Amino acid sequence: MSEQATFAAGAAPGAVPIVGHALQMMRHPVNFMTSLSAHGDLVRIKIGPTTAYVPTHPDLLRYVLTNDRIFDKGGVFYDRARDIAGNGLVTCPFADHRRQRRLMQSAFTRPQLKRYAIAMNDEIEATASRWYDGMVVDAFAEMYGMALRTVGRTLYSTPVSPDMAAGVEQAFDVVLNGLFRQMFLPGFIRRLPLPANRRYQSNLRFLHQTTQELIDDYRSDGAEHDDLLGALLASRDDDGGKLGDKEIHDQVITMMAAGTETVAGTLTWAFYLLSQHPEIEAALYEEIDTVLDGRTPEWDDLPNLSLTDRVISEVLRLYPPAWLFTRLTASETELAGRRLPEGTTIVFSPAAVAQYEDAFDDPSKFDPDRWLPGRVTPEARQAFMPFGTGARKCIGDLFARTEATLGLATILGRWRVTCEPDMDIRPVPLATVYHPRRLRLKLSARNPRPATSSTLVPTGGDAT
Ligand code: HEM
Repeated sequence: MSEQATFAAGAAPGAVPIVGHALQMMRHPVNFMTSLSAHGDLVRIKIGPTTAYVPTHPDLLRYVLTNDRIFDKGGVFYDRARDIAGNGLVTCPFADHRRQRRLMQSAFTRPQLKRYAIAMNDEIEATASRWYDGMVVDAFAEMYGMALRTVGRTLYSTPVSPDMAAGVEQAFDVVLNGLFRQMFLPGFIRRLPLPANRRYQSNLRFLHQTTQELIDDYRSDGAEHDDLLGALLASRDDDGGKLGDKEIHDQVITMMAAGTETVAGTLTWAFYLLSQHPEIEAALYEEIDTVLDGRTPEWDDLPNLSLTDRVISEVLRLYPPAWLFTRLTASETELAGRRLPEGTTIVFSPAAVAQYEDAFDDPSKFDPDRWLPGRVTPEARQAFMPFGTGARKCIGDLFARTEATLGLATILGRWRVTCEPDMDIRPVPLATVYHPRRLRLKLSARNPRPATSSTLVPTGGDAT
């Protein structure tokens, strides 16, 4: 990048001994990341003992993300994420990435997604059918369960026992929660036999064992499966190469980990933002009623649910779920006029550029219509990176948008959702997302359907 020197480098104030900026980051991830642009285009921060650099100018971030040979996966986030996802597509280094991506891409084509949308619908419907009129549910817990089951069902269409499903759900919960803590702890503390470390390790073992059992069962039944795991097993590159056993295992865990909290966070913040903007909420109900007329949305409805889609975009801009990733420089390089030695940590946070003033009018305002085709600017598109960019851009971006749009339209088509007044939206950070400390949703039936046995059995939340 020849004009590197035109970018200004700076440092974030307020680093505290030992933890650096970790407390500020944990207290309010989005505010912290958004605030950094006041200190330069490339801002030095401290995450515990690690010095890291955050690009806050969209062009600089794009430069980092599109030069993945130099700015390779590594650093505090990816070192710990490898405990869970091994050498899967999210975590693998540049050297392994292109081959894995080619093999995975065939499982994410539009025709495949159209098929996955059927499984998504079944699971979203099942969640929305378990609710009853007047029920109050915890927003993130409910969306998390729905997203985990949805990605699970898309991957693995064969039904699993309720005990196994519940076990996997709980283990994921512990591991994804633990991952965030593990990221900030020094190695010797992580290895101590503390209850939290033991719990993390035993749930991680359970997750790996169960995943392997599911894959083995799947292979041994000899049937053809029209789902994401089936597509991964069948995938071949031009030379007939395929994903090995360990790679399949890592990809399954990767999908579950990458596709659960992120979608759950998006939907949770969508409910909050809609509750604060009643006129947008009313227009959304109207779109959903006009397009669907009481039906469940399907893949072919997606182009007509354009406000729903814009709402999702704007939620992803203001509360980008995947808020902290890291890179490690593979060789000495220059960024914003600063020489960075090999092994320097770079932080990629979509939140650091998502409110870039030159790209957005009134950047902190929730304004889904800024994404209307006639209004959206090239600068806004450049600064919008909730799914990353370049070769390592999220492979599940369309999957996630499909699920979030179907989820929001299904839920709001059937339920009037009101946020309970006792909300506390201070963010609680997890490994890839942060969710409101307390956000409970009250559900009132809109399009009553004939009750089935499942609709009468409350399974979560507090009945009021
Ligand atoms: C709203 C939901 C989601 C968001 C915001 C999101 C965000 C991201 C981001 C920012 C990256 C790039 C990470 C980096 O550059 O270090 C990424 C990568 C990835 N995501 Fe997502 N993601 C979402 C949903 C999903 C879903 C549903 C799946 C799978 C079913 C998925 C699978 C992946 C994979 C496999 C990668 C690695 C791609 C590669 O390196 O080639 N994500 N995601």
